[in-house]
Amino acid sequence: MYELRWNLGILITACLNIIQIHTVPYAPDLAGRYCNQIAGPVCCNGRQDSCSFPILGNGTLCYCDAFCETHNDDDCCPDFNFACGDGEAPPEPFIEPSCAYKGGFIKASDTVWDNCNSCTCTFLHNRTELLCHQPHICLMEKRIIETVNLQGFSWTAANYSFFWKKTLEEGIKYKLGTLQPERFVMRMNPVRRIYDPNNLPSEFDAESAWPGDVSGIVEQGWCGSSWAVSTAAVASDRYGIISKGRQRVSLSPQNLLSCNNRGQQSCDGGHLDRAWMYFRKQGIVEESCFPYSGKIEFCNKHHLDTCPMRHLKKTNKYKVGPAYRLGNETDIMYEIMKSGPVQATMKVYHDFYSYQRGVYEHTDLSILDRTGYHSVRIVGWGEDRGRKYWKVANSWGTEWGENGFFRIVKGKNECDIESFVLAVWPELEEY
Ligand SMILES: *[C@@H]1O[C@H](CO)[C@@H](O)[C@H](O)[C@H]1NC(C)=O
Ligand SMILES: *[C@@H]1O[C@H](CO)[C@@H](O)[C@H](O)[C@H]1NC(C)=O
Ligand SMILES: *[C@@H]1O[C@H](CO)[C@@H](O)[C@H](O)[C@H]1NC(C)=O
Ligand SMILES: *[C@@H]1O[C@H](CO)[C@@H](O)[C@H](O)[C@H]1NC(C)=O
Repeated sequence: MYELRWNLGILITACLNIIQIHTVPYAPDLAGRYCNQIAGPVCCNGRQDSCSFPILGNGTLCYCDAFCETHNDDDCCPDFNFACGDGEAPPEPFIEPSCAYKGGFIKASDTVWDNCNSCTCTFLHNRTELLCHQPHICLMEKRIIETVNLQGFSWTAANYSFFWKKTLEEGIKYKLGTLQPERFVMRMNPVRRIYDPNNLPSEFDAESAWPGDVSGIVEQGWCGSSWAVSTAAVASDRYGIISKGRQRVSLSPQNLLSCNNRGQQSCDGGHLDRAWMYFRKQGIVEESCFPYSGKIEFCNKHHLDTCPMRHLKKTNKYKVGPAYRLGNETDIMYEIMKSGPVQATMKVYHDFYSYQRGVYEHTDLSILDRTGYHSVRIVGWGEDRGRKYWKVANSWGTEWGENGFFRIVKGKNECDIESFVLAVWPELEEY
């Protein structure tokens, strides 16, 4: 038991009431000992109703008295002829190793799931034990989904099947992936822009302002790559928008994930300032040349150097200028309107994974106070029943949220989304 614990590297607790080898009810051939008991055969003369044994496991009895043979419905035990006559020995009972589970049985080596928690019926030498993982908090928690939907929040929650069986810890580790900005980065001075903050529209959507220039929704998979995905998408959008559609590109997040290694952790998360620095110094190639796999892949520099040049004459790498920070709500709005989507880092609470539609505002429904940082792309804003929101592109595929987007309360730094907003200017080659 202990050896197994450490071998599996996970804390396994054996559930109580472990059944050792369990003998399955003798359904097909009804093999087993009835009249032929361990201590010797039990055979009775005439009719003796008490001379019987339970069979089939459902309250039925079989008989070992002489009467069982003589009346119409033969209710003799299967080994009656062997024990009480001169018949052949019946086959040994079929024993299938299994474990007791919730009033039933599961076969040896089988695993049963209850959302993100599982139990496996495991062989240990010559017996079976039901080994269950220590209960985890699941990514999709019934209580959160139901409470959000019953209590009338400004958003609704869904039970996503693609998050089913996953733990909250897996969600934090593999659906987010932005390392908290370091202190010196947080002190980056925001840029100043001259505009009239009272003169900004109440609604704006980059997708309608620049049709065809704004990137689609990515599915980052089970890889903490939001740092790379949002960086590549914001840069792609800005290449298209600022070149007025002449340099529409889809840039490769995998290029960052695989090649921006210094101080970065690939699918375990990355820092945005380092991603932008790599982008600025090394440049990245188009998605088609290094497609997203959401896995840690070798950075083949030779392959990248031979990527086709589509828009660029001198090089096949797309570069950007230094990333700059936007200081407040109206600065962010003005920036999006002038130059396209921006990158934001948000704190993700447990309930966010279940977001389906509406204007999100975090709740305190999680049992655990576990959060993580995630970077996303703000593409616009608007107002819904007096509630101001940002329209944001997530990277969990189009099945999640509002076709892959979500709306979140604007102007209140909800989930810290307005704290660390970055933008860059693409390095366009002159035509
Ligand atoms: C027990 O199972 C047998 C075979 O499946 C069936 O014929 C019989 O009616 C059952 N008896 C009871 C009491 O349910
Ligand atoms: C299992 O093994 C132990 C020791 O090896 C033995 O004493 C025991 O009888 C075995 N049990 C079964 C059900 O075979
Ligand atoms: C969510 O979906 C799973 C799997 O489809 C289902 O078993 C579960 O009962 C659902 N939970 C809620 C709260 O709807
Ligand atoms: C944001 O900062 C600018 C100056 O950079 C200022 O003009 C504007 O009023 C501020 N907006 C808000 C919402 O505080």
